Amino acid sequence: SMRILSGVQSSGRLHIGNYYGALRQFVQLQDEGEGYYFIANLHALTTVRDPKAALALTREAAMAYLSLGLDPKKAVLFRQSDVREVLELYWILGTVTPHAHLERAHSYKDKVAKGISPDFGLFAYPVLMAADILLYSADFVPVGKDQIQHIEFARDWAVKFNTQYVPGYDPADPEGKERGHAPGILKLPAARIQETTQTVPGVDGQKMSKSYGNTIELFGDEKEIKKRIMSIKTDSTPVDAPKPLPTQSPPPGLVSDAPLYDLLKLMLPESEFAEVDATWRAGGKGYGDYKKKLLEAYHAAFGPARQRYAELAADPGEVERILQDGASRARAEASRLMDQVRKAVGVP
Ligand code: TYM
Repeated sequence: SMRILSGVQSSGRLHIGNYYGALRQFVQLQDEGEGYYFIANLHALTTVRDPKAALALTREAAMAYLSLGLDPKKAVLFRQSDVREVLELYWILGTVTPHAHLERAHSYKDKVAKGISPDFGLFAYPVLMAADILLYSADFVPVGKDQIQHIEFARDWAVKFNTQYVPGYDPADPEGKERGHAPGILKLPAARIQETTQTVPGVDGQKMSKSYGNTIELFGDEKEIKKRIMSIKTDSTPVDAPKPLPTQSPPPGLVSDAPLYDLLKLMLPESEFAEVDATWRAGGKGYGDYKKKLLEAYHAAFGPARQRYAELAADPGEVERILQDGASRARAEASRLMDQVRKAVGVP
């Protein structure tokens, strides 16, 4: 069956961009294939330098997955750091990773521009991410748009590895379907992007991102969430007038010039959004009304998950048990692949 894998960094509180861009797909896909989902807590060390915070954020990310509907009986849920093999594959992949690829990485440049320390780990981030994906022979990786380049790198480096180390491997026939060709040891993954939610805007219209301070958190304090929603950037169209719709191509640097409209569209059930859309175009309501509507939509969409999250917070033993179980299932898979990789490269 198809293997679907993805991860989220435990570098901060999860927000609705993470949900609509990625986590919602994870939950929807758990019946369509074998799911491997993890908390990228080693990646998070590139920005989280406080050990207490690192531990707490890792546990919170696990609680988020579970309360949003990931079922540990269907999918394997684990912590990245519980499968040490990933660090071994990371090194081996790094020996066939062109430095020039890493120099082209958008996320590295973006993060450095945002003030994140340009350490080696940040530079090598895509190599560890490729190891995450290739270690479990993933077919599909559901992610938001910002991760596409990382998945392309994983494909490229898998081809490089296979070409170097698998006798009879032909990059034109990576599964070795034709006579005389061998299948690669590392399977080529593909990104899976949800067109309509590939970049969720934050309250200022830029991509929703922790580092822009423009997020609406999934499990944050209610008052804070209300404040964020009420602060969504709007223009000065009078209360009764029709409101401008998002343009096809918003000004550079923005992902939406009408984030309130886009967020309503994202969070309301279709029939309710149709009503909002009609009054938005015709006029009669002010932005304040729409913000209240969005707050209601938020509570309708995430109220039950927030409730489960609170219950899990009171039962850390249960969360840990699920993670341990996931780790042992993931480890079995990882050790199978690493046996092949070690043999291929000549490491006892
Ligand atoms: P991270 O933790 O930054 O984000 C987790 C997921 O959320 C998506 N996302 C968004 N989607 C739409 N709109 C937004 N505003 C938005 N913000 C975030 C991201 O695209 C991502 O899918 N490098 C990864 C974590 C990772 C990983 C992996 C993912 C580590 N190893 C292996 C897949 C496979 C990351 O930083 O995600």
